[in-house]
Amino acid sequence: MNLRFLGHSCFLLTTAKSKVLVDPFLTGNPKAATTADQVSADFILVSHGHGDHYGDAVAIAKRTGATVVAPYELALHAGAQGAKVHPMGCGGGKDFPFGRVQLTIAHHSSSVDEGGKTISVAAPVGFLIQADGKTIYFAGDTALTMDMELLGRRNRIDLALLPIGDNFTMGPVDAAEAVRMLKAKRAVPMHYNTFELIEVDPGIFKKEAEQHGCKVDVLKPGESIEV
Ligand code: NI
Ligand code: MN
Repeated sequence: MNLRFLGHSCFLLTTAKSKVLVDPFLTGNPKAATTADQVSADFILVSHGHGDHYGDAVAIAKRTGATVVAPYELALHAGAQGAKVHPMGCGGGKDFPFGRVQLTIAHHSSSVDEGGKTISVAAPVGFLIQADGKTIYFAGDTALTMDMELLGRRNRIDLALLPIGDNFTMGPVDAAEAVRMLKAKRAVPMHYNTFELIEVDPGIFKKEAEQHGCKVDVLKPGESIEV
């Protein structure tokens, strides 16, 4: 399948059967490679409620008819605004037309803005995505956690998409340790250099992760790889 990086933590997976958009933060993203009214999707996976992930999910879902796949309360939130939704819970997996999605543990927070008030909504998650014979782990926003070792023990991870921006999530050194625990063959860093608070050198991650035998592709927004 093709994986295109659209900036921040947003990716578009083009599988044999469906287009799967992950964490579509395009409007207001200074590094976005496309716009919310141009991107196409059949499914939209949303890891948590923060604006830099939930972002344009509802607008894109309503325009395209795509299904929003998200942790339970966040799916209800999207559904209340008119999106077609598929709610899931952490640890749960489900077969979709393009492949299987399992929600994974993420150590972070999750909230939405409701008229200037910050409301907690659903626990944040990551995604284990199995499609076209490949396994991709999208970590979401998370700290380094021992749960990653369990994921690596039980899955053959072809590609890990990991936050490296520090401050809100793992930094580059912790993300390299995640690569080791996941036994990931290949990794793409995300969630860095979008804003000043998360400015880091992806070269630090690449150097450390490649010491664990993992190939690292540092993608610019708009660039894609075949998985
Ligand atoms: Ni977040
Ligand atoms: Mn974030």
